[in-house]
Amino acid sequence: MKSSRKKILVTGGAGFLGSHLCERLLRDGHDVLCVDNFFTGSKDNVVHLLGNPRFELMRHDITFPLYVEVDDIYNLACPASPVHYQHDPVQTTKTCVHGTINMLGLAKRVGARIFQASTSEVYGDPEVHPQPEGYVGRVNPIGPRACYDEGKRCAETLFFDYRRQHGLNIRVARIFNTYGPRMHPNDGRVVSNFIVQALKGEPITLFGDGRQTRSFCYVDDMIEAFIRLMRTSDDVTGPVNLGNPAEFTIRALAENVVRLTRSASALEFRPLPEDDPRQRQPDIGLAKALLGWSPSTELEDGLRRTIVYFEALLRERPTCS
Ligand SMILES: NC(=O)c1ccc[n+]([C@@H]2O[C@H](COP(=O)([O-])OP(=O)(O)OC[C@H]3O[C@@H](n4cnc5c(N)ncnc54)[C@H](O)[C@@H]3O)[C@@H](O)[C@H]2O)c1
Repeated sequence: MKSSRKKILVTGGAGFLGSHLCERLLRDGHDVLCVDNFFTGSKDNVVHLLGNPRFELMRHDITFPLYVEVDDIYNLACPASPVHYQHDPVQTTKTCVHGTINMLGLAKRVGARIFQASTSEVYGDPEVHPQPEGYVGRVNPIGPRACYDEGKRCAETLFFDYRRQHGLNIRVARIFNTYGPRMHPNDGRVVSNFIVQALKGEPITLFGDGRQTRSFCYVDDMIEAFIRLMRTSDDVTGPVNLGNPAEFTIRALAENVVRLTRSASALEFRPLPEDDPRQRQPDIGLAKALLGWSPSTELEDGLRRTIVYFEALLRERPTCS
């Protein structure tokens, strides 16, 4: 289903999810303004879009104000993996808070609808499984992950205050682990980590005993959910959990990756980092009801497509740094 042509801003558009979203919005016939400071994203992720006259790429840091005219805003800008968001934690909080204020201010000025890429990390290390949207979370405000977890929580607060105070048209998605082509090869995220290690024949590093569980959503399913959430009626604000409820242990994921890459890599166990959640599984009942959406890509299919991407990347850049 195609909607009428719009000018759409995607912040963090040169990142993993952002580049897939830009592609999809162009395919749907929209004009896309991709804004990114290239901290974790790269021009390589959108280079194939540069020839499209409806696509525009702008280097800009959203912690500074942005003056553009757009109909919709998808606010995805933010380093998303612990390695990257802990690299400069103050900048991470600034991106979440100042950046979000700037994007909400822009939405208010131009009357745009605005989407926030929030995260399952707002639930912290939860006592409730799976986590419904009404669960308020258990986050350590002074731990090393807090710059991201609390930053994203504050961004949600800002979204809802702009809604209450200024009547903004908002959508908040709480995204659970998503994977696919164009993930950063060495950002420490578990799927990309395992695939790169397996393809290089290096040991697969697992933290703890590997019995902690995660759910993994393939990127195409996630982007479909973003689009559906943005198209809902204006009384739908979220937060809405988006993810794949199928739960796997980290160990099972590692074993799948080794099998699919036909790698000889061995599994190697390391100590669990501080504040690492033991279990993470979305309750997507609300997304199913509101959006008529649930993920359709099997883990094995998604892994195969992601492996193809990393094989090509490693052929081009064997050190993958
Ligand atoms: N991928 C997931 O599993 C996942 C899960 C939960 C939430 N999210 C959220 O989705 C969004 C996209 O995540 P991703 O996985 O694509 O990560 P990513 O790191 O690939 O993309 C983030 C993009 O934002 C850009 N960026 C960072 N700070 C910026 C700033 N101050 N100004 C402008 N651009 C900036 C980066 O350069 C990068 O291109 C993030 O907000 C993240 O928190 C992702």
